[in-house]
Amino acid sequence: MLAAKTFFDTPWEQLTPRMEEDFFTSLMTGNKTYKTTFHHRFSDINPYLLDYLLHHAPAALKVLDVGVSSGISTVELYDDLRQGGLDVEILGTDILVDAFLVRVFPKCHALVEPSGFPLRFDLPLVSMKPWVTRHDYYSGLFILRKLVNALFTHRARQILRSPGDTRVSEVKLVAPRALAKAGITVCSDDISRYNSAFEARFDFVRAANVLNHGYFSPAALSTMIANTGRYLRKPHGSLFVVRTHENRANHGTLFRRGEGEHFELVHRFGSGSEIEDVVMGVDIPAK
Ligand SMILES: C[S@@+](CC[C@H](N)C(=O)[O-])C[C@H]1O[C@@H](n2cnc3c(N)ncnc32)[C@H](O)[C@@H]1O
Repeated sequence: MLAAKTFFDTPWEQLTPRMEEDFFTSLMTGNKTYKTTFHHRFSDINPYLLDYLLHHAPAALKVLDVGVSSGISTVELYDDLRQGGLDVEILGTDILVDAFLVRVFPKCHALVEPSGFPLRFDLPLVSMKPWVTRHDYYSGLFILRKLVNALFTHRARQILRSPGDTRVSEVKLVAPRALAKAGITVCSDDISRYNSAFEARFDFVRAANVLNHGYFSPAALSTMIANTGRYLRKPHGSLFVVRTHENRANHGTLFRRGEGEHFELVHRFGSGSEIEDVVMGVDIPAK
């Protein structure tokens, strides 16, 4: 597994797609969601979205991509829409964008959230995930993992308490080439909290691999969907919710904002979004 320090020290043009996938896919955040991502994840879907948006949205298109993780699929969406003739701007958001890489001991680093929640530990010869897996209980590795977790997390939190400590580096949990792309902006935002700065600003919202039953309760999903509804322009604004299954097949649904208080179904990909009923049942609050 690629060490966090190596990932952040590698010049962005030398980071391969494989390195980006390996690094982000191995991160689980404090709200128990994964940053799993891979290249060409939506190459089957983007041509349909392009065609739909060319016919139903303004040519100067404002897109909100929520839960972007590394931003790899954001860059691909941007490139596909742009090459298809749309003058697109994308705002990518994620609950976790900023993190700290802390030198906890010589040649040892902890990658942690601002809250101190641990994401990854680099030891001199190996990089390790903080959480224990079932396999660890068979192999006995869980003892080492728990020990390293307790020690590194405690030390990282202690160091973070001293302002300006040179052992702390601020890092962004976004692929550097997504940050470097003109036309894409990435910022931190929690979909479950209404953000008035986003009200009626977007023509298209994508929620890919984030609004899942496995991650959130139906009530939490309803709040998140209602928020995205308020962020869309009326009546043409559209919302795309999709989940990639283990076999890499995408199942998603495209919805239209319309003039009313409810989303309208436009198109299903695969078997459709697993939260289609939640989306259709949401009342989008008026301003
Ligand atoms: C599996 S990744 C999806 C990455 C990308 N959209 C894709 O499909 O390739 C899920 C992302 O959702 C983010 N996330 C989880 N809860 C969130 C919330 N409440 N608000 C915003 N982002 C959230 C996680 O931090 C993670 O980066």
